[in-house]
Amino acid sequence: MAEHVLDQVTLGALVIVRDKMMAQQAAGRKVYRLEVGDTSFDTPSHIRKAIIDALESGKTHYPPSTGLPALLAAMLKKMREENHLPIRDTDHVMVTIGGMHGLYMSFSALLNPGDEVILPNPMWSEIHELIRRPGGVPVPITLRPERNFLYDPAEIEKAVTPRTKAIYINTPHNPVGVVVSEATLKQIADIAVRHNLYVVSDEAYEHVIFDGLKHVSIGSLPGMADRTITCFTFSKTYAMTGLRLGYLASNDDVLVDRFRKLLRLTSNGVPSITQWGGIAALTGPQETTRQMMAELERRRDIFYDGLKSIKVFDAFKPQGAFYAWAKISDAWGGYNGAKDSWAMTNYLIDQAGIGTSPGVAFGSAGEGYVRFAFTVAPEVLIESIEVMQDLFNK
Ligand SMILES: Cc1ncc(COP(=O)(O)O)c(C=O)c1O
Repeated sequence: MAEHVLDQVTLGALVIVRDKMMAQQAAGRKVYRLEVGDTSFDTPSHIRKAIIDALESGKTHYPPSTGLPALLAAMLKKMREENHLPIRDTDHVMVTIGGMHGLYMSFSALLNPGDEVILPNPMWSEIHELIRRPGGVPVPITLRPERNFLYDPAEIEKAVTPRTKAIYINTPHNPVGVVVSEATLKQIADIAVRHNLYVVSDEAYEHVIFDGLKHVSIGSLPGMADRTITCFTFSKTYAMTGLRLGYLASNDDVLVDRFRKLLRLTSNGVPSITQWGGIAALTGPQETTRQMMAELERRRDIFYDGLKSIKVFDAFKPQGAFYAWAKISDAWGGYNGAKDSWAMTNYLIDQAGIGTSPGVAFGSAGEGYVRFAFTVAPEVLIESIEVMQDLFNK
C-alpha cells in the first residue's frame, strides 16, 4: 500500500515500557508502576452514581454530537467563573472524548499542510503527532534547566515565521511539572497578538497544582478571547481517565464550524452516560477533588524528598501535574554499555521492576532524563525509593 501520513506516527516508547511492565507483572514479579499517568483514585461516588442512574433510567439514546445541553451549560459556567474565559455561549463549547480528542480536533481544524506550531521540548510526545497528522510542522522550543524549565518568550518570538499558525501551551506541564506564571503567559499572549497567531492551551492538569500556585488560563488574558482554543479534561481532576470525557472552547466561528463537522464525522457524540457523569462532576460537590489534589501534593513531597536521596538523580521539584522529571547523573555507570535515558529505563525495569519513562520519548531535550509518575499509593512510592536506594547508593 502507498505511504500514508499515519505511517510516520510513532507511539513507541511509552507503549514499550508499559508492555514490559505488564509482562513482568503477569509473570508474578513485584513491580512499581511509576510510568503510569493515571492516579490510583476511584472516580468519586456521586459521579459513579449519576452514570448508573443515567443508564438505568434509559438515558442511552443518541446525544447531540457536540454534547448534552445541560453539560455544555455546566462547562460554560465553570469556564466563565473559574477560568475567567469569556466564551460567548454554549455553541462555542464542544464535548470531546477526553482531552486527547479535543487536542486532535484543535490541530485538525487549525492546520493546513506546512503550517507551523511552536511547542515546548520536552513535551508529551502525542502533541507532536497530533500536529503532524494534518500535515503541520512542530517547532520545538527547549525548556532549559537553567531557566527552571520555564518557557522563554524571547525564544518563542524568535521561532515565529510566516508559516507559524499557533503556539501550544501546556500548564501545568507534562512531563516537567512546571507551572507557567501569569506574567509569562501575558508575554506569550502579547506575541500571539503581535503576530496574529492562535494559541492552543492544554489545561489537562489545571487542578493538579501545588504549593498554593494559581492556574491561569491564557484565553482569559487581554487580546486572547478570540484567538485561543482551550482544551480541558475530566481525566485528572475527577479521576475519570477511563470514562473519556473532555471539552474545548473557542469563540472563533470558523473553527467552531469545523469542530462541529469533525464531531459529526468522528465520535458523533461522547457516550451519553459518561456525559451525565460529567454533569454530576461539574455541578456536584468538589470536596473529593480537593482531597485527591491534596493527596497528590503529599505524594509529590514523599517522592521528591525520596528522590533527593538517590545519588544518580537530580530532580526538578514539580509544581503541578503528577510527574517527577529527574536528570541522570554523569556519574552513573550505565547499563549494557549505554548511559542514555533508555539505558536508565531498562536498568530500572530489569534490575528493580521500577517503571519509568525515558526522557527522550518527550523530545530531544528530554535525553538524559527520566520521568517518574507519583500516581500510585504512598507506600508503593516509599518502597520504590528504598529499592532505588539499594540499587544506586550501596
Ligand atoms: C499534557 C496532556 N494533555 C492532555 C492529556 C489528555 O488526557 P485525556 O485524553 O485522558 O483526557 C494528557 C494525558 O495524559 C496530557 O498529559
